[in-house]
Amino acid sequence: LLKDRIAQTKTTLLAHNQAHLLAFINTLTETEITALLDQIEGFNFTLIDNLIAQYIKSDVTFEMPSAIDPAPAFPLDPDSQYQGQYDAATRVGEQMIRKNQVAAFTVAGGAGTRLNYPGPKGNVPATPIQEKTLFQLFAEGIDAVQQQYQCTIVWYIMTSESNHDETIASFEKENYFGLKKENVICFPQGMMPCFAADGKILLDQKGVVSVSPDGHGGSLRALYTSGAVQDMKARGIEVLSYFQIDNPIVMPIDPRFIGLHANAKAGMSSKAVIKVDPLEKVGNFTVVDDKITVIEYSDLPDEVAKEKDKDGNYQFMLGSIAIHLINRTFIEEINKGQFSLPWHKAIKSVPFIDSTGKRVTPEHPNAVKLESFVFDALPMSDTSIILSIDRNEEFAPIKNATGVDSRESSKQLQINRAAKWLTACGVTVATKENGDADCIIEIAPHFAHNLATLKSKTLKFTNIAAGESVYLG
Ligand code: UTP
Repeated sequence: LLKDRIAQTKTTLLAHNQAHLLAFINTLTETEITALLDQIEGFNFTLIDNLIAQYIKSDVTFEMPSAIDPAPAFPLDPDSQYQGQYDAATRVGEQMIRKNQVAAFTVAGGAGTRLNYPGPKGNVPATPIQEKTLFQLFAEGIDAVQQQYQCTIVWYIMTSESNHDETIASFEKENYFGLKKENVICFPQGMMPCFAADGKILLDQKGVVSVSPDGHGGSLRALYTSGAVQDMKARGIEVLSYFQIDNPIVMPIDPRFIGLHANAKAGMSSKAVIKVDPLEKVGNFTVVDDKITVIEYSDLPDEVAKEKDKDGNYQFMLGSIAIHLINRTFIEEINKGQFSLPWHKAIKSVPFIDSTGKRVTPEHPNAVKLESFVFDALPMSDTSIILSIDRNEEFAPIKNATGVDSRESSKQLQINRAAKWLTACGVTVATKENGDADCIIEIAPHFAHNLATLKSKTLKFTNIAAGESVYLG
């Protein structure tokens, strides 16, 4: 039987110019051969051939649409006209939350190469005093919403082949951080082979093909193929609140955003920040062919990014921070329709087995990885809204080991937000000249997951002095 499988796989690989994947089969045990064949049989070689032709052998360049317009957004500070709409939206969102129609969804399948933390990024100690992990922090945030609305918030987490088991183990070890095990659903995303510059798929080991996660855009298929969408349907869940694993101050569930999205009958929506300058390196919200479309900073020509309107204001100032709402029915519809998202190419250093069987760790980028991005699904939604938010309230990413967007910079942003909330409650907080809080503060989501909750608490202090550490838990 095994011989037949090998012969069949060899024929397929020869037809697709990838026969080298079986070059070391004679050195492998039967179990290793079976695992290799399982892996190879899982690939769609027709798709792979197309991808090689399109993204590796030819250099796809982004085609700038012939016309783009600035995207409209609900403003951060509503005037009286919007205020009524926002209040009504909050009520709608709250009602949906109470009816258990909203779930949290975290994409946590990324390799996290820039941070270089061993194991799932969700295990990174992220908070300034207690060093709570991202998983714990989000679990507490989700539970705070459950307590507030006396509801169930199911938490879907997309992992990858490389961190799925460790993710489950982390939750098991910590007893699901107080959440009910049946309400935390982890499922792995799809993987893509890594390619050499000539389109040959790389071997990671003699019996293992080199693969990497297929991007956060892979979530839209993985939610469907894993059965998560069917699970949502069975539980009556209508909307997923999508956020990334690396943003500790994200609001896992935001009633106002949910209500605005629902009232607009949108399929997929987004939060946006106002860019610090027109060339800030974030995706740009635009309108192309009447559809909200994100154009990456690297694809938007500087002169377009700097275009001004008739009042002299920059036009393209809405930046994407990877916070979305996605309807269950939207995911169902696109999957029934055989959707595909564009692929984005990244050139990375990937260890590989060379033709002599030696494992090489390259010093320079040698491989092409292909990923799809979730925001590329936005134009598939007939209606899509954008809500402008304050980055200091909801965005403190942990991407890099040091410097910008590191654990250190994120902790300062977490402290600054806590200081701002406490100041709004009448506490005097020591501040540095640059505006950063001059103390260490951590507010546990169980104590207060938003300013309104904090305001409802009786605080036993009125002042936080320079250098002081205050944990509200
Ligand atoms: P990033 O774009 O920051 O990528 O992911 P990354 O893989 O985590 O980190 P680097 O680039 O290797 O340093 C943004 C979010 O999307 C998730 C990540 O886990 C993170 O929450 N993601 C990314 C996936 O879930 N799957 C992927 O294939 C890629």
